[in-house]
Order: sequence, then structure tokens, then C-alpha cells
Amino acid sequence: MTVTELENIRFYDYHPKPADIHADIIHGLNRTQKQLPPKYFYDHRGSQLFDAICTLPEYYQTRTESAILQQNAIAISECIGKDVLLIEPGSGSSHKVRLLLDELRPEVYLPMDISRQHLLQAAQSVSDDYPWLEVCAGCVDFTEQMPIPNYLAECDNKVVFFPGSSIGNFEPRDAVGFLCDVAALVRPGGGLLIGVDLKKEHHILHAAYNDAQGITADFNVNLLARINRELSADFIPENFSHHAFYNSELGRIEMHLLSNTEQQVSIDTDTFIFQQGESIHTENSYKYTVEEFAELAACAGFRLQQYWIDPNGLFSVQYYSLL
Ligand code: AVI
Repeated sequence: MTVTELENIRFYDYHPKPADIHADIIHGLNRTQKQLPPKYFYDHRGSQLFDAICTLPEYYQTRTESAILQQNAIAISECIGKDVLLIEPGSGSSHKVRLLLDELRPEVYLPMDISRQHLLQAAQSVSDDYPWLEVCAGCVDFTEQMPIPNYLAECDNKVVFFPGSSIGNFEPRDAVGFLCDVAALVRPGGGLLIGVDLKKEHHILHAAYNDAQGITADFNVNLLARINRELSADFIPENFSHHAFYNSELGRIEMHLLSNTEQQVSIDTDTFIFQQGESIHTENSYKYTVEEFAELAACAGFRLQQYWIDPNGLFSVQYYSLL
């Protein structure tokens, strides 16, 4: 780990191991149900497409969560309490936290992200805009570890902020694993403020992942273009179609890429055969009722304190404390 004292922030670099994209892709495509890990959606182009998804009329999540945070910032802050160490794993651009900072007034904000440059810029920009706030950034792969600088470890009111319903992209048992890691980090007395997308009428969910402009389809297919760009692969992206549907039995949106034809694809020295109509499973996005998620969180020792929902019952922001 290296620490750099910059003008306005402390930067802790834990030197996260770069992902082994080649091994992960080959492993996924060798499975009986071919799979690709959703974390590889987010190259430069994929991140641009995801930003575009977040502004789509059908994709209610982002604007709904932001409105909940904005409209309930006072109540949320009262529930959390003052002077906390606010930790945000996978903080990205640190946009949503800004909706809370003026009311919450944490003592320290600790964004964590694997993308060094993005993290640095976002942390510096938060620090510039909130000069009263101590900002300390950690470059880390939070799915592997969530280390905390020594001088902050003893602080006894730690709260993790995990917006965006990113928890929905974990398999439920992995979600519990992540929540256990959060519990180990915040320790008893600490808290978790989390955004969770809710179960709802299927047509609303269907539209959110099948937008009229085809941006979600581009986002899905870009995964193949990325594999071509970064590995020696010869996917013909036009030969695959976006397919997203709500699996009501499992309570999740599934995204797949369907092979339009029988075809063969090479990645370096490996070859993969696709039957016409065969799918590559690229993402799950689980939806929960408040009660279902509270049960999951209880497996990691968290107790639901309060939650906030938009008037249409689409999305929730939930606050938990660790027993
Ligand atoms: C990042 N995550 C919460 C998004 C979701 O809705 O599951 C990713 C996404 N996939 C397609 N559209 C958005």
C-alpha cells in the first residue's frame, strides 16, 4: 500500500490486481450455459453507454433513487447521525453522495474504487466542493477487500453507502457475503445505507432493460466488441442479439446475448461453437421487496432501521444498523 498526501486529499493505493479478463472470459464461455461476467461491461465505451442508460426515460432507477436521497436527506441524516466516517465502495464519480453531504455532514468521506484516475478526480472534486470535509480515497477492488487506513480504523461510527442497486447484480448468496464484509468493516454500532430496486409490475422492469432507443442492447453487445478489442477475438457483434426478460421465479432481470446463427468464434487459441438461438448469460439484476432484502441483510447481522420509497413504489433506500 502507498499513501500520497495530495493538496486536499489523502490517497491510499492498495494496488488492486488487474482482473484477468482472458481467463475469466474463457472460463465463462466453457460453461454449459455460456456466461460472461458483468464487470466487463464497464470499459470506456461501456461506461459511456451505462451513463446514457441512467438518463433513459424507461430506466427509472437512477432518477428515482436520486430523488429519494434529495427529498429525504434530512430524515436520512437524522437516522444516520452526525460526524460519521462515510465509506462508499465502488464510488465511481461520487455523484449520489453529494445529495447527502450538506445535511449529513460526515467527518470523513472515504470513496473506494478500482479505477485509479476516476477515483482521484472524483475525490478531489468532492473535496473542492465541500472544503469542510476530510476526503481520504482508497484505490481498491472492493469485491476482494475493503481495507481502511489505520488512523480511521478506530473510529466507531462507520457507515457504508452503497447506492445504485448494485447489490442486485450479486447472486443473493454473494450479496450476503458482501454484506458480511461490510459488517466486518463497520463493526457493531456501524451502519449501511443502501439503494435497492424493488419488485414491481413486470412491464415496467421489461421496459427498463429493453429501451426503445436500444442503448441497453448496445451496452450488452459492447461486451463482445470489448473482448475483440482487448483479446484476439473475432466475435461479429451483429451476429448476436440483446435479450432481457424478467424471471419471476427467481425475482431477477436476466440479460443474455443470443446467437443469431450457428457460428464459431475464436479467442486467441480457443474456439467456441454457438448454435443458432444459444445464449450467453451476461447479467442478473435481482429485485427485492423491502422485507426480502431485510431478511438477506439480517443474515449478515444488519437490522433495518428505516427506509424511504418513492411515491410510485419503484425504488427504495434503506438504512441498517449492525447489531
Ligand atoms: C449497475 N446495475 C445496477 C445496473 C442494473 O440495472 O442492474 C446495470 C444495468 N444493466 C442493464 N441496465 C443497467
